[in-house]
Amino acid sequence: MNKPLKSLFLAGTAVTAGIYLWKQRQEKPEMNGRTFLEQYGPWAIVTGAARAEGLGYGFARQLAGRHVNLVLVDILADELHARAAELARDYHVRVKPVVLDLARPDFLPELTAVSHGLEIGLLVCNHMFTPKATPTILEMDLATHHAMLDINARAYTTLVHEYGRQMVTQGHGGILLVSSQGGLHGTPYTGAYSANKAFQLMLGESLWYELRHANVDVLVLTPGLTRTQGDALDSYPAFMLMDVEPVVREALANLGRRHLVIPGPVNKLFYFATTHLMSREKAVVTTGDLMAQGLNK
Ligand SMILES: NC(=O)c1ccc[n+]([C@@H]2O[C@H](COP(=O)([O-])OP(=O)(O)OC[C@H]3O[C@@H](n4cnc5c(N)ncnc54)[C@H](OP(=O)(O)O)[C@@H]3O)[C@@H](O)[C@H]2O)c1
Repeated sequence: MNKPLKSLFLAGTAVTAGIYLWKQRQEKPEMNGRTFLEQYGPWAIVTGAARAEGLGYGFARQLAGRHVNLVLVDILADELHARAAELARDYHVRVKPVVLDLARPDFLPELTAVSHGLEIGLLVCNHMFTPKATPTILEMDLATHHAMLDINARAYTTLVHEYGRQMVTQGHGGILLVSSQGGLHGTPYTGAYSANKAFQLMLGESLWYELRHANVDVLVLTPGLTRTQGDALDSYPAFMLMDVEPVVREALANLGRRHLVIPGPVNKLFYFATTHLMSREKAVVTTGDLMAQGLNK
């Protein structure tokens, strides 16, 4: 490409990216004139909420700050009870910790036994399982693939089905699915996770359409790299990492306004680049190379 053409292309790309970011910042009007608590309270269920650094606890904190009572679910018993006690102490909300292995196909009755009689206005499906090591798809053993499907796909479907139906009947509510930027296109070295996250994204987007007129707001959040894992993400460029609080804030602020939130300007620009500036094939290669660098492959 000659120099004037290249400059024109870069200027055009910069303007388009600017318009894209500006449009993402535009807030849509509040739905139905209801307050957050009226639409998404008085109780919320948050899964995967046990770890102090995690996004689930971030959601629980900000919801408690909005006076929403909480049912918290996680497999980590001690941590979950500690988080529940902190929230009840600091925010004066009611908190019910439910220690559950969401890999079990029969987990639901144990959860509904606790949520029975509570008006659940918000479901935050946030839990996930992926092995700490990052085997390729064929290196990972089949039992781990199946466990991931149970936890990251089957359990999401079960929760959405149960509480989505309740919300339609009660006439209000919200469902927030925490997917990942890794679910937007193939993500080598975490391919099974990427497939699980794509499942969640498709489930949520379709559900959003189907519930548009039921006063139940569905939102899919696709975080990029977020500081939830100690120093595990240190080998990625720092500018790519987000803190938990702004990710959660942006998601909650867009409930009822959008169906998909890609948090933060860097993640938005990365999405813009991989969908507007390169082919899908190139996007997978770019992501794979970035992963290989971050994971020291
Ligand atoms: N952090 C990031 O960079 C990032 C980026 C994109 C998307 N996300 C998404 O954000 C969400 C939260 O991630 P996070 O980084 O905050 O991780 P996290 O703190 O590890 O949260 C996941 C929680 O789910 C629990 N869990 C795992 N298997 C379970 C099971 N069978 N039953 C019940 N609970 C189970 C985990 O327990 P164990 O610790 O025992 O497994 C953990 O407490 C996930 O959906 C993740 O995919 C995160």
